[in-house]
Amino acid sequence: MHLLVTGGCGFIGSNFIQHMLAAHQDAVIVNLDKLTYAGNRRNLAEVESLFLGRRYHFVHGDICDQTLVPELLGRFPFDAVLNFAAESHVDRSISDPFPFVTTNVLGTQNLLEAARQAEIPRFVHISTDEVYGSLGPTGQFTEDTPLAPNSPYSASKASSDLLARAYFHTYAMPVIVTRCSNNYGPYQFPEKLVPLVYLKASRNEAIPVYGDGQNVRDWIHVMDHCRGVEAALLKGTPGAVYNFGGDAERTNLEVVRTILKLSGKSEDLISFVADRPGHDRRYAMAYARSTADLGWTPRQSFEDGMASTLAWYTSNGAWLDEVQSGAYRQFMDKWYRTRQA
Ligand code: NAD
Ligand code: TYD
Repeated sequence: MHLLVTGGCGFIGSNFIQHMLAAHQDAVIVNLDKLTYAGNRRNLAEVESLFLGRRYHFVHGDICDQTLVPELLGRFPFDAVLNFAAESHVDRSISDPFPFVTTNVLGTQNLLEAARQAEIPRFVHISTDEVYGSLGPTGQFTEDTPLAPNSPYSASKASSDLLARAYFHTYAMPVIVTRCSNNYGPYQFPEKLVPLVYLKASRNEAIPVYGDGQNVRDWIHVMDHCRGVEAALLKGTPGAVYNFGGDAERTNLEVVRTILKLSGKSEDLISFVADRPGHDRRYAMAYARSTADLGWTPRQSFEDGMASTLAWYTSNGAWLDEVQSGAYRQFMDKWYRTRQA
């Protein structure tokens, strides 16, 4: 099984590659990654030491590259393309939407077109529950919920989902879209809530909670998401959309308190800051279709998954230090200065 994985040096892509190479002895994976601030080759250091040049190949490049992508698709007899590559952080999309439209929309279109020309038998596009917009206090998103994105990030993801849909309907291309709720787990860049809170707590720094802290996300362990993408790849129906959720709705304040408790830190570190503009209030995922069609359900409880995740960050302090580049620090410092003003 030859797979082209894009964005494989990021959080979810690197977990996915590790999982697939371990679970499928016949898997050969080519990872196309631009290595933005969020991509780190070190996430796959063990994979490189075991398989580089044999079952694993790394290509440093951009999914928007109209020369490289078609050329790469001709290099191996690919069975599938899995598109994880994206600009993924809502706050960054508010500061500067341009790279989001470039990578998430134009990059996905370039990949779809090249895969169509190369007649790749399967294309799995990795998307998010955020394309559905925001829920009130009750209800859940299903795959039939209309798309109503509210941030530049979610708008760019919804746009790429619609391009994937159009390639299925227009060209009968075997495209599958997966939509997952908020992931946590090893190798997540510390701009996202869970690793950010862990990092700040470990340094006894103030933890910024946006607005009233009552926004709700449905948290899922990254490995449950990876198993879902794997099931969609192996068993999904072309043209279908599959939701994945974690059955773990928590307010942001509950998540922060859980991390502080597990870290043995005081809740006095919590600092309420200005709300994120256009902040979605609540996400919750119904995933009955994924259970019925793919045999998928989430396995990790929030409590166990969070405990093992924090244990991973504790024993991988060097990784956290490494990804804290100067550019990242400057961005975050500027961001927090703006919102505290
Ligand atoms: P991430 O930001 O950690 O990683 C993104 C990766 O894509 C990085 O390795 C980066 O270098 C690479 N990349 C960015 N632009 C590229 C380009 N133009 N060409 C090639 N590579 C490029 O993101 P993540 O959290 O791992 O998310 C992966 C996918 O899953 C995204 O499509 C995201 O929308 C989706 N998703 C994420 C979550 C979540 O909670 N993190 C939830 C649901 C869906
Ligand atoms: P985030 O991890 O950025 O994921 P997303 O915006 O894609 O859901 O944020 C998760 C939630 O945590 C979201 O409601 C915003 C909130 N949040 C904070 O309150 N403080 C923070 O410093 C961050 C990064 C997020």
